[in-house]
Amino acid sequence: MFHDCRGLEITATSSDAITAFDQTVDSYLGIKPEAAPNLKATFEADPEMPMAHTMKSYFFMLMATGPLKERSRKAAADAAKFAQAATKREQMHAEAATHWSHGRKGAALATWETILEEEPRDILALRLAHHGHFYEGDGQNLRDTVTRRMFAWNSDMAGYGYVKGMQAFGFEETHNYDAALLAGHEAVEINGHDAWAIHAVAHVHEMRDEATAGIDWIKKNKVGWRSSNNFRNHVQWHQMLMYLDQQDYAEVLRQYDEELWDAESDEYLDLVNDAAVLLRLELHGQDVGDRWQALAEKCKDHTTDQALAFIDVHHAISLSSVPGDDVKVLLDAMESYASESSDDNAEITGAIGLPLAHALVAHRAGDHGAVVDLLMPLRYRFHLLGGSHAQRDLFAMVLINSAMASGRTNVAKMLISERLARAPQNAWNLNCAREIGVAV
Ligand SMILES: [Fe+2]
Repeated sequence: MFHDCRGLEITATSSDAITAFDQTVDSYLGIKPEAAPNLKATFEADPEMPMAHTMKSYFFMLMATGPLKERSRKAAADAAKFAQAATKREQMHAEAATHWSHGRKGAALATWETILEEEPRDILALRLAHHGHFYEGDGQNLRDTVTRRMFAWNSDMAGYGYVKGMQAFGFEETHNYDAALLAGHEAVEINGHDAWAIHAVAHVHEMRDEATAGIDWIKKNKVGWRSSNNFRNHVQWHQMLMYLDQQDYAEVLRQYDEELWDAESDEYLDLVNDAAVLLRLELHGQDVGDRWQALAEKCKDHTTDQALAFIDVHHAISLSSVPGDDVKVLLDAMESYASESSDDNAEITGAIGLPLAHALVAHRAGDHGAVVDLLMPLRYRFHLLGGSHAQRDLFAMVLINSAMASGRTNVAKMLISERLARAPQNAWNLNCAREIGVAV
């Protein structure tokens, strides 16, 4: 029996496999491009290592595209087979991978939580639970799945900084910004390349409407977040939101073309970032030219993925921004999936994803009254889609834009009043307020 770098028992045929697996987990936590090559090295050292197969299954699911679900299921089945003589913890990881790859996200989350009750230092289960709660829109558990493990951690342990980075993001998403800054700064001091922690602090500046401080923070830590995989584009996206807040539209468009847009990328987070910033630019009154065309071309390949409702609604934005029937293909696929699949995500697709996608398509078509009718009853449940407050804020902006454009002035005034309470100096809020006659 071997032990990993945190002292957990782990099954393999050689210490080389353990070292390679530790490096795989470390690069996953750091969101680094080395994660896949490190997993490959693990397999080369031990082709039957149970946790390597489980990790393979997890990685496929983390990529959140339809065709990879089957490959994830196959890897989970291999993990279960090779884990028969392994520890209970490793067997439970294989079970979690099986649940997740079969659409049972809730059962996977419950399994990671059970693993963590037994072994709070299982940082892989911790990060996956953190990720899972994020895409459940469960901010309290996003924060607490990390915080309730802290009794078992100290700063001498490998990965402690990553734990603090996760905790920072949990604090931020539950509006405890001072605690988020403390934990985030501690994490970045431990590891200046911890992109998740850098990102958590950027979120605090976004939520506090501190564009200048946020841009400074992201610039100061550029070497750190640029070393991550395509997640670096998401941090870039955060910086662009801050330039939007400063109404520096030329800089946002320059960054879109020169930094954010990756013609070769088909990663879901890139497609989400791109759609979310282009629509924001338009809501700020900017012309984004033909940029939707290239983005929609990529989204056409994902109309039947239904990996996450959160992703599908962003594809609805991109596909309805260009001529053609692809957005109808997407909406029909979401409809069939919601009514026919037993996936946990199918329920959210039916309850939130579909009406929101219809609203976003109606917004594009200029049917603003329909947008207000669809979104007013839905807006306090947007979080069930998952994603962050900053990401979902786009839907709130669309609703306000449609309330104004449809002449539902009192509704617009109500919504703008709420936004001004949170961000009284925000340029977009102020411009909307002036336009509809709210005193500022
Ligand atoms: Fe973010």
